Amino acid sequence: MKRLLLSTVFLLLVRTFLVAQPAGFKWRQLAPGVWKADVGKVEKISPLGVAGVKPAVEALKKLGSPSFPTWLAESKSELSDGKTYLRFPLQREEQLFGLGLNFKSVQQRGRIKTLHVDHYNGKDDGRTHAPVPFYVSDKGYGVLVNSARYITVYAGTGVRKDSKNPPKEMDRNSQKDWDAQPYSDAVEILVPSLGTEIFVFAGNNAMEVVQRYNLYCGGGTLPPKWGLGFTHRTPTLFSDQQVLKEVADFEANGYPLSFLGLEPGWQTKSYPNSFVWDSQRYPNPKQFLDNLLQKNIRANLWINPYVSSHAPIFKDIQPYTASHTVWVGQVPDFNLKPARDLYKGLFTEKHLNLGVSGYKIDETDGFDNWLWPDVAKFPSGFSAEQVRQTYGLQFQKMSSDWFREKNTRTYGLVRASNAGASAMPYVIYNDYYNHQDFITALINSSFIGVLWTPEARSSATSEEWLRRMQTVCFSPMAMLNAWADGTKPWTFPDVADQVKEVMQLRMQLLPYLYTTFAQYHFEGKPPIRAMNLVEGFSFKEKTVEGKLNSTDNPYAQAVKKDIKDQYMLGDYLLVAPLFAGEKSRKVILPRGKWYDFYTGKLVGEGETIEIQNNLEKIPLFVKDGGIIPMTLPMLHTPRKEEVLPLFIRHYGTKSNTFNLYDDDGETFDYERDAYAWTALTVTTAADGKTEGRHVAGKEFRYKDVKWEFMSR
Ligand code: GAL
Repeated sequence: MKRLLLSTVFLLLVRTFLVAQPAGFKWRQLAPGVWKADVGKVEKISPLGVAGVKPAVEALKKLGSPSFPTWLAESKSELSDGKTYLRFPLQREEQLFGLGLNFKSVQQRGRIKTLHVDHYNGKDDGRTHAPVPFYVSDKGYGVLVNSARYITVYAGTGVRKDSKNPPKEMDRNSQKDWDAQPYSDAVEILVPSLGTEIFVFAGNNAMEVVQRYNLYCGGGTLPPKWGLGFTHRTPTLFSDQQVLKEVADFEANGYPLSFLGLEPGWQTKSYPNSFVWDSQRYPNPKQFLDNLLQKNIRANLWINPYVSSHAPIFKDIQPYTASHTVWVGQVPDFNLKPARDLYKGLFTEKHLNLGVSGYKIDETDGFDNWLWPDVAKFPSGFSAEQVRQTYGLQFQKMSSDWFREKNTRTYGLVRASNAGASAMPYVIYNDYYNHQDFITALINSSFIGVLWTPEARSSATSEEWLRRMQTVCFSPMAMLNAWADGTKPWTFPDVADQVKEVMQLRMQLLPYLYTTFAQYHFEGKPPIRAMNLVEGFSFKEKTVEGKLNSTDNPYAQAVKKDIKDQYMLGDYLLVAPLFAGEKSRKVILPRGKWYDFYTGKLVGEGETIEIQNNLEKIPLFVKDGGIIPMTLPMLHTPRKEEVLPLFIRHYGTKSNTFNLYDDDGETFDYERDAYAWTALTVTTAADGKTEGRHVAGKEFRYKDVKWEFMSR
């Protein structure tokens, strides 16, 4: 009897060890509201590792200390078949956001994606420029899988037999509300490796979760002031003289310009790259850059990382490159220090030391047919998959460190990113060019710690041109990318004035914009905010997509309606763009009163309003009490020592305080306390008397402060 008992216990033990059972996580608190659990064997390379994140611990402490989201206590993991299986419970009405830079959808519950760095292909299937494995729940938590693998996320699609909260079985014959997608009570994730790190971020709402994520990743980037002006990318193969002519044309026509982008052709060879200036087109690059700088204009260089046989580092970099080439150029393995050092040496000598302000890092995302295949081998020993998932991120980190060493901020462009990018001074862009989808991407960027620009290139009509130029001026980078089309802001004469006006408005808004980015850095609040992150916003309409028919829609499905055509820029500005062809549009106003930005008139209160097409202007609304600090419509962003006039607008009737941020706008001295927040305070008395006050402290580069009470 005793023997039988012993052998039964033995067998049970063997079973436990041989057949892995789903297990709970061992959560370890890393900072207030941030927990981590390791599952299986954690891999040596991960997005957060490559990004070198340095958590903003003090800012995290300030944000409060929420408890672990109890709902996630039931989460499970399992190692099987060489992979990690993860399961996180979902509640009934929970909404999920994030999971990469999506272009068509905002809410992600009920979707399946394999997160894979790639050029966006028109489907929200996970292949995108920043497939960040992070989702945010409106219940106040977020989950990050810090893996450099192509992970597959079933964001509430699978229905388990042992579900604690299973959907009811329905009958399509008799029940009208039968849905092709039954309710699922879990997010399930497959990571193709035997282990990974999982992070949980808590918060009182989705916004706080995003703030914690951004702060954990070091706080959002604070661009130099010039980065927030207007930027124009000149056509490929342009010479120094052609570029300078373009600059002179901007100046003569009165269009603002803060930095210029040189596209392929500034260098001797591109695709692959030599990285050295072409002596025919740019006989004296230093003089050319000095010339621009005298006009207070910075220069940004287009590159892709693939090394031509004509590059000075070609020979030396050989041992540190992959088995495969891209456009027959060598593919450096930036996981190896010698490769990074060779780049640093070349780029510093040939570009940074001459005054180049930043880069556009192209072609780090895909397409598959161009990039190295997954069978490629890298000398660091990391797989082609892991390198693909982190390549763009790695270049961002490496290059931003070069500028940091010079105590100079940069602000550039990149086509691939991943988790941990919040502090990176880079904005994502692509070639896809659907205007509506560009705005959806802008909105989605706010959940995942990346920046996106809906760049303008060209347009079929002047209406479309104006609409695109309007939205790009309300994004993290106001950019015209004329690399192929040679478009200028004034190319469509019938809207040239309106285009100028919105570009000027962008410049006028610099004090507001800069403060909004300071909030990103110091508080983790993204500059562009999806309505789902905004307090007092609610919209839960469900619609059945399409009519039932045998070809396009044989399984009619109920979906929650996405709000993907309006967003907040900072705390007070609601942007509701119109697209070419639209005669009118609906705007959903969050709780409280809202005012027209241009006139100060009340437009509605916590309701949906319909606005008519006004081609002249992009529709902008301001929250009651909203304070918008503005300056003059300058042609260039201010120099370090420049002091600007300040016009402070106040909307509505509420008393309020706006904390205006300022510093030198160029260096990292703000990390050493060289910055100031100045309180701009409006008090409105019962008799309707309104008054504005401020006490200027150090680092306040404004003069002639004037108040404008827009709604009075
Ligand atoms: C594309 C990029 C464009 C432009 C072009 C130059 O890949 O998205 O913005 O830079 O390369 O060849």
